[in-house]
Amino acid sequence: MILPMTRDAAVQLALMLLAGALLFSGLAFLRWYRRRAWRRAAVAGGVMATLSASAFVLAFTVAVNVPTYPVPFTARFATNPTPDTPETAAAGKAIYDRLCAVCHGIRGRGDGPAAFTMNPRPLDLNVHVPLHAPGEHFHWINEGIPGTAMPGWRAQLSETERWQVVRYLYALAVAPPR
Ligand code: HEC
Repeated sequence: MILPMTRDAAVQLALMLLAGALLFSGLAFLRWYRRRAWRRAAVAGGVMATLSASAFVLAFTVAVNVPTYPVPFTARFATNPTPDTPETAAAGKAIYDRLCAVCHGIRGRGDGPAAFTMNPRPLDLNVHVPLHAPGEHFHWINEGIPGTAMPGWRAQLSETERWQVVRYLYALAVAPPR
C-alpha cells in the first residue's frame, strides 16, 4: 500500500496532532485543578494523542520516504481554481512543452536535453507528482526550489497559467505522451 503522503508530510500531521493533544491535556488539567468539568477535554486530548501516534507509525512504516523540498504546511490546502477539463490540461501542456520540457523532458521523465548537467537532476515527475498536493506543486512553480536548478515562474506565467500547468502535471503522471 502506498500512503498518498510522504514521510515528511505524515510527520508534520503527527506533530500538529501532538500539539492539539498537549493543548487539550493542558486544558483538562486546568479544569480538573479548578474542579470544573474536565472529562471532555481529556477525551479530546486522548483521541488526538492516539491519532498522532498512529500518524507517526504510518510515517515510518507505509509512507514513502521521499525528502520533500521546503514548502509551507498550508500550501497543500490550496485548491486549483482552473476547471478540470481537457482544455485546461491542453493549455498546461503547451506551457510545459515550451518552458519545462527542456529540463523535465517531454514525458516528464527528467530526461530533457538540459537535465544531464544538473545536481540534483530533475526527478521523474510521473512518480513524484502524485506524491504531493496540487498546492505544493503550485508553490514550487511559483517560488522555484532553492538549491536546485528549478526557477520560479511568477514573472513569466500568470497565476492561471501556473495552475493550468499543475493540471497538466497530473494528466502527465497518469498518461505520459509517447
Ligand atoms: C532549468 C531546468 C528546469 C526548468 C526549466 C524547470 N524545472 Fe522544474 N525542476 C528542476 C529541478 C532540477 C527540480 C528539482 C528536482 C525535482 O524535484 O525534480 C525541479 C522540480 C520541479 C518540481 C517539484 C517536483 C517534485 O515533486 O519534487 C515541479 C512541480 C516542477 N519542477 C515543475 C516545473 C514546471 C511546471 C516547469 C515549467 C514551468 C519547470 N519545472 C521548469 C528543473 C527545472
